Amino acid sequence: MAPCPLGLTSRRFPRKLQFIAFLILVPIGMIVISNHSNKISYFFRPLWDNPPPPFKRLPHFYAENVSMEHLCKLHGWSIRSQPRRDFDGIIFSNELDILEIRCPELNPYVTKFVILESNTTFTGIPKPLFFSSNQDRFAFTEGKIVHGLFPGRIAYLGSPGNPFDLESEQRKAINGLLHNAGITDDDLLIMSDTDEIPSPHTVKLLQWCDGIPPILHFELRNYLYSFEFPVDYSSWRATIHIYNPGTLYRHSRQTDLILSDAGWHCSFCFRHLHEFVFKMTAYSHADRVRRREFLNYSRIQKLICSGDDLFDMLPEEYTFKELIKKMGSIPHSGSAVHLPAYLIENADKFRFLLPGGCLRE
Ligand SMILES: *[C@@H]1O[C@H](CO)[C@@H](O)[C@H](O)[C@H]1NC(C)=O
Ligand SMILES: *[C@@H]1O[C@H](CO)[C@@H](O)[C@H](O)[C@H]1NC(C)=O
Ligand SMILES: *[C@@H]1O[C@H](CO)[C@@H](O)[C@H](O)[C@H]1NC(C)=O
Repeated sequence: MAPCPLGLTSRRFPRKLQFIAFLILVPIGMIVISNHSNKISYFFRPLWDNPPPPFKRLPHFYAENVSMEHLCKLHGWSIRSQPRRDFDGIIFSNELDILEIRCPELNPYVTKFVILESNTTFTGIPKPLFFSSNQDRFAFTEGKIVHGLFPGRIAYLGSPGNPFDLESEQRKAINGLLHNAGITDDDLLIMSDTDEIPSPHTVKLLQWCDGIPPILHFELRNYLYSFEFPVDYSSWRATIHIYNPGTLYRHSRQTDLILSDAGWHCSFCFRHLHEFVFKMTAYSHADRVRRREFLNYSRIQKLICSGDDLFDMLPEEYTFKELIKKMGSIPHSGSAVHLPAYLIENADKFRFLLPGGCLRE
C-alpha cells in the first residue's frame, strides 16, 4: 500500500538532474545578468523609476531684429532702462574647446565669468589644471575671468569616495568665489556646466526685462559628441537666478519653471579621443565604464561617428514609448543653423563639432 522504494528513487533521480541543471544554469544566468544588468535595469526603468514632476514650460519668443521692448512684452514682462549685470558661474573640468565657444558667445552680456577648477576629478584622480595652463586662449575676455582653484581630495584604492560628494563640495566652493567676484543683489547668475550654453539672445532678454521669475531653468537642446547629433530637448539642469543673499549654487531641480529653447547642451563634445577617455573616467558616472575595452580609442572613434552610446547603455527614459523611440544610433543631422556664432565663424578650427566632422585627431 505504501509507495514502494522504487517510486522514491524514480522521483529522486529527476530531482538530481534538476539539481545539476540548476547548478549549471544559475551561474550562466548570473553571468548574463551581470554583464547586461545595466541594460536590463534601464529597459525596465519605466517600471522602477518615476519621472520628475513636470515643468511649467514658458514659451520663448525671439527673432533677429525684433525690438527688446516688443520681446519683453511678448513674455508678459516690461523693458528696463538699464540691463542687469550678469555673472556666469561654471565648474570647469576639461571642456576647453566648448569653453572657448561659450565665452565669446556670452561675453557681450557677462560682467564676470566665474570659473572654479579642481586639481582632482570628481572621482578623486589628480588632474592637470587645464584652464590655468590655457588662460591665453581666453585673453579676449579682457580680465572678466575670475578663476578659483579647488583643492580636491585624492581617492586612494579602497576608499574611492563618492563622486557626487566631491561634486557637491565644488558647488559649495563656487559660492565664495562668486562673492569675491563682486556679485550683488539683483544681478543675474547663470548656474550651469561648461557644456550647457545659454544662447546669447536668451541672456540679453533676461537682462533687459523686468518681471522675470527669480529662478528659471533653461530648456536646452541636447547634443552628443557634436552638433551633428541632436538628441532631444531634455536638458533642464542649467538655471538663471536673480541673485539674493540666500542664493546657493546648485545643479539640480530648483523651481517648476523652465524657459523653452534657451540654448545648447553639447555632451562629450571633445576634439581629442584622450579627452573622451578622461571624461569617461573622471565624471560622476565613471562607474558606467564597466569594461576596459570601453576606453579603447578605435572603439570610441567608431561610436562617435555612428552616434552610438559610449557606455553601451540604453537611453534613460521614463516611458517605454520614449525608450523604444530613442533606442539605437542617434540620427545624423545636416543642420548647422542656429548654433553658436563663434562656432560658425571659426568652422575650420571646430570641424569636429559640425556635421560631417566626426573623425577626431
Ligand atoms: C537688422 O537691422 C539692421 C539695422 O536696422 C539692418 O541693417 C539689417 O539688415 C537687419 N537684419 C535683418 C535680418 O533684418
Ligand atoms: C591640490 O591643490 C592643493 C592646494 O594648492 C594642494 O595642497 C594639493 O596637494 C593639490 N592636490 C593635487 C592632487 O595636486
Ligand atoms: C581596440 O579595438 C580594436 C578593434 O575593436 C582592436 O583591434 C585593438 O587591438 C584594440 N586596442 C586595444 C589597445 O585594446
